[in-house]
Parts: sequence; structure tokens; C-alpha cells
Amino acid sequence: MPILPIPMQLTLIFLDEPVPSREIKGSEKGKIAYLCICTGCHTYSGRMIGPPVQIIQTLYMDNPRGLADCIANPVKKRDDYPEMPPQNYLDEETRLAVAE
Ligand code: HEC
Repeated sequence: MPILPIPMQLTLIFLDEPVPSREIKGSEKGKIAYLCICTGCHTYSGRMIGPPVQIIQTLYMDNPRGLADCIANPVKKRDDYPEMPPQNYLDEETRLAVAE
């Protein structure tokens, strides 16, 4: 395995103005929530903490609303997986965007 060089000296630069915080638009919410939250436990095709996204897609293909509701209050279904923590800190719009 190649060894990556680690920079030994870091320079910090302070800007005169703070960088404006990024506004996450509605259309991006689903993607960002998925990448930041769901992929911590679900991979697309493999088993991780939770079942693969492919299985979830099959179950909820025509039912994004059902998926958005279920992740707010997950029910333990699988004996060979731990329970999923509720994602009810995400607002409904974000949950629906992830589902879609
Ligand atoms: C801390 C880990 C964890 C995170 C984060 C997580 N999940 Fe899960 N998820 C699980 C586990 C574990 C299960 C299996 C629970 C069971 O079936 O008993 C599961 C199951 C599911 C199911 C299957 C429900 C069913 O009806 O069969 C869906 C849908 C799902 N997760 C969606 C999501 C989405 C969308 C996110 C991101 C917002 C997410 N999960 C984030 C761990 C997680």
C-alpha cells in the first residue's frame, strides 16, 4: 500500500470576513441528509449496521411517504440487525427528500 505524504507544516489563513454559511436548498436536502446520515449505517449493496439500500429501495419503491414516516419512528423488524434509531430530528420535508 502506498504511503501518503503528510504535510508537516500547516499554515492557517484568517479571512477578513467570515465565510457565509451555506444555504442548503430544498432540492439538495435529501442528498445531503442521505450522504451525511444514512450512509453511516446503510451501504448501497452490502450489509452494514442496517440492511442495504437496494433492499430498502425494493420495499419502498412506490412509497416514499411510507419510508419518510417509518424512519421517524422505526419498528424493529429484523432479528439479525440492531434497531434503527429514530430520525425524527429531521423535519418532514427532509425525510421525504431522503426517501425520494
Ligand atoms: C445508526 C444506524 C442507522 C442510521 C444512521 C440509519 N439507519 Fe436505517 N436502519 C438501521 C438498522 C439497524 C435497520 C434495521 C432495523 C430492523 O429492521 O430491525 C434499519 C432499517 C432501515 C429501513 C427498513 C425499514 C423497513 O420497513 O424494513 C429503512 C427504510 C431505513 N433504515 C432507512 C434509513 C434512512 C433513510 C436513513 C437516513 C435518514 C437511515 N435509515 C439511517 C440503522 C440505521
